[in-house]
Amino acid sequence: PEFDLIIAKGRIATAADSFSADIGIRNGRIVALGQLSGARETIDASGRLVLPGGIDAHVHLAQDGAPGIVMGDDFETGTRSAAFGGNTTVMPFCVQKRGQSLREALKDYHARAEGACYTDTSFHLIVTDPTEQVLGQDLPALVAEGYSSLKVFMTYADMVLSDYEILGVMKVARKTGALVMVHAEGFDAIRFNTEQLEAGGGFGPKFHAISRPEPVEREATHRAATLAELSDVPVMIVHVSGGEVIDEIARARGRGVKVLAETCPQYLVLEEGDLDREGMEGSKYVCSPPPRDRTAQEACWQGLIDGTFDVFSSDHCPYRFDETGKLTPDGKRSFRWIPNGIPGIETRLPILFSEGVKKGRIDINRFVALTATNPARIYGLRNKGTIAIGADADIAIWDPDKTVVIGQDKLHHGTDYTPYEGLEVTGWPETTILRGQVVVRDGELVGRPAGGHVLRPVSGMEQGVKAGR
Ligand code: URP
Ligand code: ZN
Ligand code: ZN
Ligand code: ZN
Repeated sequence: PEFDLIIAKGRIATAADSFSADIGIRNGRIVALGQLSGARETIDASGRLVLPGGIDAHVHLAQDGAPGIVMGDDFETGTRSAAFGGNTTVMPFCVQKRGQSLREALKDYHARAEGACYTDTSFHLIVTDPTEQVLGQDLPALVAEGYSSLKVFMTYADMVLSDYEILGVMKVARKTGALVMVHAEGFDAIRFNTEQLEAGGGFGPKFHAISRPEPVEREATHRAATLAELSDVPVMIVHVSGGEVIDEIARARGRGVKVLAETCPQYLVLEEGDLDREGMEGSKYVCSPPPRDRTAQEACWQGLIDGTFDVFSSDHCPYRFDETGKLTPDGKRSFRWIPNGIPGIETRLPILFSEGVKKGRIDINRFVALTATNPARIYGLRNKGTIAIGADADIAIWDPDKTVVIGQDKLHHGTDYTPYEGLEVTGWPETTILRGQVVVRDGELVGRPAGGHVLRPVSGMEQGVKAGR
């Protein structure tokens, strides 16, 4: 037969168009669109929506934490959960520990991922120790090899870089074309607030949000944009939580700074009040930046609608609701020790589809742009993120009318709770196909954990330009 697989009679959506056609797949690539026949296997997608597989450009898998803290997902369970959620590529982080070389860190994280993934995987670097060796030799070499995106932190005692150090990283980005992602929250303000709150007897999970209000994020966003401006590089502000931050991004763009921006499901459907639930329940919602209020949610929606946001990611950061995670003994003593981050790799797409597309806030083409096409273009994932001849056959087949009440019992991640428990959504991915191989079929796992490739992004040389808006 001419094709290995035909996906027949579906309604296809890309970032640009919606149309009905069969998709012909050979050797893992899309090779034909139209009225097709002659395949070893045909999947009937009538009545279904056929989308590019999701690309989750911000996830944390199998990261090392503080002593006693263990992430609930390794690469196998994390990418399995991603595949069930309609994703075909995820972008986790390779974290440099202080004192460690970037190469050692990469060797570590590649070893964790190789042969263990149900989806394709491509690493961002996290630079925590920008020594002369790192800035002068290692980072430029790695960018040239294709590790062309890296994250820096403006907070967290074990990760924070000074403005001086960020400028050093950005200078390398200017020279090599790498894209710098910034966690924009101000370290000193959070540290001061935390001490003040504790001194006043504020220890519970809700004080996490109180210690880092939106101005703390707005100030850091302004500083990150200014450092990018001084360095003449694009910058990606990740996990934006509300309108004040969005205004700061708009202001920077107004003076010509190339600021890209990402938001996440927690800023659309969770609130600061969730951290104030009974006992330690609130710890299930502790992430940074924290979810805020209705006004901030509306601002994030507006940013998705008007194009302020380029990317919609999960920031999946899977700690368990037990002593290895949210209920660490120190965390029960004070919010400052509760590991930051919440799971969401499987629920990212259904939440945006239901709350966004089904409720008429965004159209399906914008949905695809935010969740697949833009991340592929911005991070240089060649042949990914769209349905077109020559593209990788990374496809999710959705039932757009299926109603699901999100619950831990239905999910496939390695952690033991979902912050979205009880949220009803309409629209669910049923079948996920990675480079022509079915990974999840009608809600059943059929792929192998060795099916995913650990990709490298393409050379960053032209990507800095592409990232320009
Ligand atoms: O709280 C969060 N988001 N934890 C994950 C790490 C990060 O900063 O993205
Ligand atoms: Zn972050
Ligand atoms: Zn993150
Ligand atoms: Zn392979």
